[in-house]
Amino acid sequence: MRDLFGRELNYLRLSITDKCNLRCRYCMPSSNIKEMKHGDVLSFEEIERLCRIFADLGIDKIRLTGGEPLIRKDVVHLIERLKAIKGIENVCLTTNGCFLEENADRLCNARIDGINVSLDTLKRDIFRTLTGKDELSKVLKGIEKAYDLGIKVKLNCVPIAGINDNELADLAGMAKDKDIDVRFIELMPIGMGKEHKGIDRETIIKELEGCYGRLIGTDPDYKGSPAAYYKALGFRGRIGFISPMSHRFCSECNRLRLTSGGYLKYCLQYPDGCDLKSPLRDHKSDGYIRDLIEGSVINKPKEHRFNEDLVNTECRRMYEIGG
Ligand code: GTP
Ligand code: 5AD
Ligand code: SF4
Repeated sequence: MRDLFGRELNYLRLSITDKCNLRCRYCMPSSNIKEMKHGDVLSFEEIERLCRIFADLGIDKIRLTGGEPLIRKDVVHLIERLKAIKGIENVCLTTNGCFLEENADRLCNARIDGINVSLDTLKRDIFRTLTGKDELSKVLKGIEKAYDLGIKVKLNCVPIAGINDNELADLAGMAKDKDIDVRFIELMPIGMGKEHKGIDRETIIKELEGCYGRLIGTDPDYKGSPAAYYKALGFRGRIGFISPMSHRFCSECNRLRLTSGGYLKYCLQYPDGCDLKSPLRDHKSDGYIRDLIEGSVINKPKEHRFNEDLVNTECRRMYEIGG
C-alpha cells in the first residue's frame, strides 16, 4: 500500500492501551487524565482481525506501544497471534520496562523480534522526579533479563534540558559492554512535550565525542528507519539518533499508527485519520475495511511541521498515540 507521495507503508505502530503506570513529565499529566472507557478499547480479537487486513495490504512489521503495553493482560498471547499472521515478519514492543523482568521469559518464548525500552536516566532520584515512581531498578533488571535471554534490546532516551542533560554520556555508556543500542530522541512538541526543551543531535554528538572519541556513522536498520546509527571505538552496541526536529525523516516514512480506540492515524503530528472501530463493530466485511484503509492512507501528509504553529495539529498526547 502506498500513499500519494509513493511511500510504501509497511510498518504499523499499534497502541493497545492509553494507560500507563508512569507519569513521565514530558508525556503524561500527573492528574486529570481522561482514560478511555474499557468498552471503547479494541479487544484482542478486533486487533487481530485488523492486523490480518493490514498484512493483506502489505504491513509486515507491527510494533506494540501504549501507554504501557505490558499493562494489558495477556499481551504475550496477542503477540503470538500476530506473529502467526501470514505476511507479518516482525512483531516488536516499546515499553517503559517496569514489567519487563516478569514478562521477559514469556516474550522470549513468543519469539518477540525486539524490545525498545525507555530509559531517560540512570539516577534513582531523577527517575523518581521524571516519572513519579521509584522504579529505576526494576527497569534496569528488566533490560538485563531481556538482554540475557537474547532478545534484541534498544534503549530510548529523550534528553531534556535541566533534567537528564548531564548524564547523556553515562546513558550512551550502556552500549559499551553489551550489544544494546542506545538512541537519543529529540523531544517533539506534542502534548506535554511542548513544556520542555529537548536537545538536538549535534549537541549530543559533540558531548559524546568529548567522552568516547569519534562516532562513526553506520547503515540504518531497515528502509524507513528514523534512527541514524553511530559506532564508538570499543563499543559493542550502537548509538542512535532519532531527530525529527533537526533531521527530518518524513520523506522515508513507512508507518501508520492505530490508537487503542481503533483510530488509524497517518502521521504523528496531525489529527487526520480514519475510524476503524465503527466498521469493525458494524460487522462490515474484511473487503470493506480493506478498501477503507487503502483509500484513506492516500491522505498521509507529506511531512510534519512541528516547527510551525499550526491550527491542524494533534491534541492527543503521546501516551494516547504510542509515540
Ligand atoms: P525500531 O523499529 O527499533 O527502529 O523502533 P522505532 O524507532 O520505530 O520505535 P520506538 O517505539 O522505539 O520509537 C522511538 C522514538 O521514535 C519515539 O519517540 C517515537 O515517537 C519516535 N518515532 C517513531 N516513529 C516516528 C515517526 O514516524 N515520526 C516521528 N516524528 N517520530 C517517530
Ligand atoms: N517527544 C519525543 N519522544 C517522546 N516520547 C514520549 N513523548 C515524547 C515526545 N514528546 C517517547 C518515550 C518513549 C517513546 C515511545 O516515545 O520516551 O521512548
Ligand atoms: Fe508512560 Fe511512556 Fe508516557 Fe512515560 S513516556 S508516561 S512510560 S507512555
